[in-house]
Amino acid sequence: MSTQKPALRLEGILKTFPGVRALDNVSFSVIPGEVHALMGENGAGKSTLMKVLGGLYQPDDGQIIIDEQPVVMTSPLQAKSKGIVFIHQELSLAEELTVAENIYLGELPHKSFGRVDWKKLHAQTDSILQRLKVGFNAKTRVGELSIANQQMVEIARALTVEAKAVIFDEPTASLTDAEKVVLFDVITDLKSHGVGIIYISHRMEEIFKITDRISVLRDGQYRGTLNTAETTDDEITQLMIGRKLDLSRNASHHEVGDVALEVRELSCGALFKNIDFEVRRGEVVGFYGLVGAGRTEIAETLFGLREPTAGQIYLDGAEVTIHSPADAIAKGISLVPEDRKGQGLVLGMNCRDNMTLPQVEGLKFGPFVAETDEVAIFDKYKERLDIRTPGWKQTVGNLSGGNQQKIVIAKWLSMHPSILIVDEPTRGIDVGSKSEIHNLIRELASQGYAVIVISSEMPEVLHVSDRIIAMYSGEIMRTFTSDEVTEDNLIQAISGITSNRAA
Ligand SMILES: Nc1ncnc2c1ncn2[C@@H]1O[C@H](COP(=O)(O)OP(=O)(O)OP(=O)(O)O)[C@@H](O)[C@H]1O
Ligand SMILES: [Mg+2]
Repeated sequence: MSTQKPALRLEGILKTFPGVRALDNVSFSVIPGEVHALMGENGAGKSTLMKVLGGLYQPDDGQIIIDEQPVVMTSPLQAKSKGIVFIHQELSLAEELTVAENIYLGELPHKSFGRVDWKKLHAQTDSILQRLKVGFNAKTRVGELSIANQQMVEIARALTVEAKAVIFDEPTASLTDAEKVVLFDVITDLKSHGVGIIYISHRMEEIFKITDRISVLRDGQYRGTLNTAETTDDEITQLMIGRKLDLSRNASHHEVGDVALEVRELSCGALFKNIDFEVRRGEVVGFYGLVGAGRTEIAETLFGLREPTAGQIYLDGAEVTIHSPADAIAKGISLVPEDRKGQGLVLGMNCRDNMTLPQVEGLKFGPFVAETDEVAIFDKYKERLDIRTPGWKQTVGNLSGGNQQKIVIAKWLSMHPSILIVDEPTRGIDVGSKSEIHNLIRELASQGYAVIVISSEMPEVLHVSDRIIAMYSGEIMRTFTSDEVTEDNLIQAISGITSNRAA
C-alpha cells in the first residue's frame, strides 16, 4: 500500500507558539482510499498539524504537497477548494443559523441577480442529511441540536465537496453507538471513492476497527508509522508515551466506611424509575449502560439540576431535598459533567483562574475544605494530571482539547467534595493520562470520598469500580461486585437481557 502515490504530503512542518514547540520537523502523508490514524498524547500536536493542513495555521517551516505541487495554504476556504475537508474537535458552527446555512456557509447557491436559491439549498442539504440518517432537517436551527447532532452537521459539511482528504479530529467523542455506526459507514463510503481519511482518536478499539495505518506524534515530533493489522495496543502506547502502561490497580486496600449516599425508589418521569442504590465512603460505584440508559439524568438529579418525580435521597442517613447545584455543592456533592466544554470552562481566561473559579455562589461557605493557594493548586494538578502548558498564565483556549478537559477535572477535584460524581471522566483523554485519572479516582476513594463514576467504556468501569450498577432504559438491571462481574454478564445486563427481577 505504501508504494502508492500519496493524496497529499506534509514535509518537515515546524510550528511554534510562545513557549511551545508544537510541531518539530513533522512529515506525514495520506494515500487515496486509506484511513490513516494520527495518535499521540494530549498536546502532542495532532490538531495543530491538521490545522496547518487545513489552512488555519501557517507553519514556520515545511511544505504541504498536493498532486506533487507545493501549496501555500492561506485559509480554510482555500484548503477546501483543494479538496481538504476538516471536521473539528471543537465544534465550529454558527448556532443562530440553520443546518443548511451552516453546511454551505460562504458557498450558498445563488439564482441570477444574486439572490440565494433557498429551494435548491434546502433540497441539496436534505439529500445529504438523508444519507446520514439524522432526525433533523435543513431548516433546523443549529442551536437547537444536541452536541452529537451538531457533530453530524459538521460531517454533513464534509460530504458537500469533492474531497481528496477528510480530517476527522476526535469525531466520536460525543456520538451515540448508533451515530458511530453511521459515521463508520460514511468513512467506508468515502474510502471506497478513493478519499484519504485522517482519523484522530484516543479510542483504541476504533483505531483497530477502521484504520489501515497509524502515525504517532510525541511532544511535537514524528515517532513512526505502523500498519494497523500488524500492531498491538502495547506497541502503539509505547510509541505514544515512551513506556509501557501499568494498568494494575493500586492495591491500596482501604476500609469502606459508612453509607454516604442512599437513593430509594428514585424516579424522574420517563427518564429513570425505581432507582435504589447506596455509596459508602471509600467506595467507587460505577454506572455502566448505553447512551440514553438514564445514568447522566440520575447524576443531574443528585446534583439538583432535575427534580425527581418520586423517591428519596439520604445523605449520611438523613433525608434531603436537593434544590439546585448550589444546594448540592453546599451539601458536599459535586458533579464533573459530561459536557465539559459547555459547562466547565471560560476559554478566554487563564488556566489558574479557570481551575480555581468558584462554580457557584456560596461555595466558600459550604462544608468544603477548599484549597486556597491558587497557584499551588494549579501546580499540584498540572503535575498530577500531566497538564501540558507552559504555565498558569496560558489562556485555556490555547490548550489542546484533552488538556482543557484536565483543567475542568482538576477544578472539581480541588474542591474536595464528600460525594464526587464524574460523568465520562476520560473522554478525549490520552491513554497515559487516563490511567493517571483512574489512579486519582481510586486514591480519592481511599481518602474516604464516596465516588460515582459514569462511563460508557467497559475497561474503565471494570478498572475503577468496587461495584458496578448496570442500567438499561432507565432502570437498574443488576448490581455487580468487582469479584462477580465479567464482560459477558455486564453486556447482557446493559442490553436488557437479564435483570434482578427476573433472577
Ligand atoms: N493557538 C495556540 N496558542 C498557543 N499554544 C497552542 C495553540 N494551539 C496549540 N497550542 C499548543 O500546542 C501543543 C499541541 O496542541 P494540539 O492541540 O495540537 O494537541 P493535540 O495533539 O491535538 O492534543 P489533544 O489530544 O489534547 O487534542 C499544546 O501544547 C498546545 O497547548
Ligand atoms: Mg487535539
